[in-house]
Amino acid sequence: MAKINENYLELEDSYLFSTIAKKVAEYQKNNPDKKIIKLGIGDVTKPIVPAVIQAMHKAVDEMGTSEGFRGYGPEQGYEFLRKAIVENEYKDLGIELDEIFVSDGAKCDCGNIVEIFGEDNKIAITDPVYPVYVDTNIMSGKKKNIVYLPVLEKNNFVPELPTEKVDIIYLCFPNNPTGMAISKQNLKKFVDYAIENKSIILYDAAYEAFITEENIPHSIYEIEGAKEVAIEFKSYSKTAGFTGLRCGYVVIPKSVKGYTKSGDLVEMNKLWNRRTTTKFNGTAYVIQRAAEAVYSEEGRKQIKANIKDYLENAKIIKEGLIEAGFTVYGGINSPYVWLKTPNNMTSWEFFDELLEKANVVGTPGSGFGVFGEGFLRLTAFGTKENSIEAINRIKQLKIN
Ligand code: MLT
Repeated sequence: MAKINENYLELEDSYLFSTIAKKVAEYQKNNPDKKIIKLGIGDVTKPIVPAVIQAMHKAVDEMGTSEGFRGYGPEQGYEFLRKAIVENEYKDLGIELDEIFVSDGAKCDCGNIVEIFGEDNKIAITDPVYPVYVDTNIMSGKKKNIVYLPVLEKNNFVPELPTEKVDIIYLCFPNNPTGMAISKQNLKKFVDYAIENKSIILYDAAYEAFITEENIPHSIYEIEGAKEVAIEFKSYSKTAGFTGLRCGYVVIPKSVKGYTKSGDLVEMNKLWNRRTTTKFNGTAYVIQRAAEAVYSEEGRKQIKANIKDYLENAKIIKEGLIEAGFTVYGGINSPYVWLKTPNNMTSWEFFDELLEKANVVGTPGSGFGVFGEGFLRLTAFGTKENSIEAINRIKQLKIN
C-alpha cells in the first residue's frame, strides 16, 4: 500500500495563482463579451529583447553543428554565464564572490532550498509573503516550525526582528507582494541578528532590477557580514522577461555554514552542490546563452528600457489610485502596487468587486498571508494601455 506524503494535506487545496486563474476563467466563460484586464500574477508582457533573441538564434544554430553541439552541461551552469553573473551582478557592486548555481528560475530554488536544512529548524517567514516559502516548508513537514513576522503598514512594511530565536529567515526585497523596499540599515539588523544567532537568511532578490532609490541594497551581500549568513536567489524572469524562458540562479557563499546535530560546521554550498548534481542536469545551453546576452551592451540597454516602461505603468497605477482616494504603497522600487481595500472590504470581496464590476484582476492580499488581509496587489507588468484602462475602470466604480 503506497503511503502519501501527508504534509500535502496540510496545504490549501490549490496554489494561490491557480485559484485565481480558475476564478477568472470561470468568470470569462460566463461573460464571454467582457474584456478582462489581468493585473494579477506578476507575469511580464513585453517580448524578449532583440539582443537575447539573437543570442538564442546563434546558440540554436551552434547546437546543429558537430563543433557546437553540447550534451549534458555542468549542473551548476556554464562558466560563461556564471562568470558574467559574477562580473555584472556582483563585481559592479564591489562584492567579491563566485559561488553561483544557475537554475531554471528562482521559484524552484526558493522551493528546493528546504532540502538542505534539517528537521528541527525554527523558520521565520514574513507575512504577507510569496506563498512558495510557506508551502514548501509545509510540504516538507515543517508547518509547526514556522513563526510569522508580521509585515505591517504601521512599520512601513518592514518586518521587525524575530522576538524568539530562529534558525532560518526568509526575506524578499523589494518585496513581493507589498512592493516595498528595505534600507541598508534595516537589512543590516537582520544580518546582525543572523550572525548573533547562527541563523541563515534566505534572501529573495528577484525584483532587484526595479530599484530606483538610493540606499536600497541590490544584493544582501552589500551588507557587511552577509557573506557568512546569507543565501541569495535571483531571477531573469522579471528583470529580463524570462518567465517563459526560465533562468535564475542562487548564490551560496562557501562561508555560509550550518550545523550538524553534534555541532560540526558544514558548508551549505557543499550540500546544495551535492543536491544539484543528483537532481539537476543544468539549464538548457540556449537559455544560458540568452541569459548571458542580458549583460551585453545592447541587452542591458534594451532591458533597462523595458523596466523603465513597467515602472512607468506602476506610476500610472499608483497615482491613478491615489487620485481615486485609495491608500497605496509600493510601485517605486517594484513592479507591484499594494493598495488598501476600500470600505473595510476583505481582500477577496474586493477582488470579486474588481473582477465583476471593473473586469480587472488583482491578487487578494490575504492570499499571501493573514497580515495581507485588507489589501490587494496589482502588477505593473501589463501594457501601458491596459494599465491606464484598468485605472479608469476602477475610478468609475467610485467606491471610496
Ligand atoms: C507573483 O505574481 O507573485 C509571481 O509571478 C510569482 C512567481 O514569480 O512565481
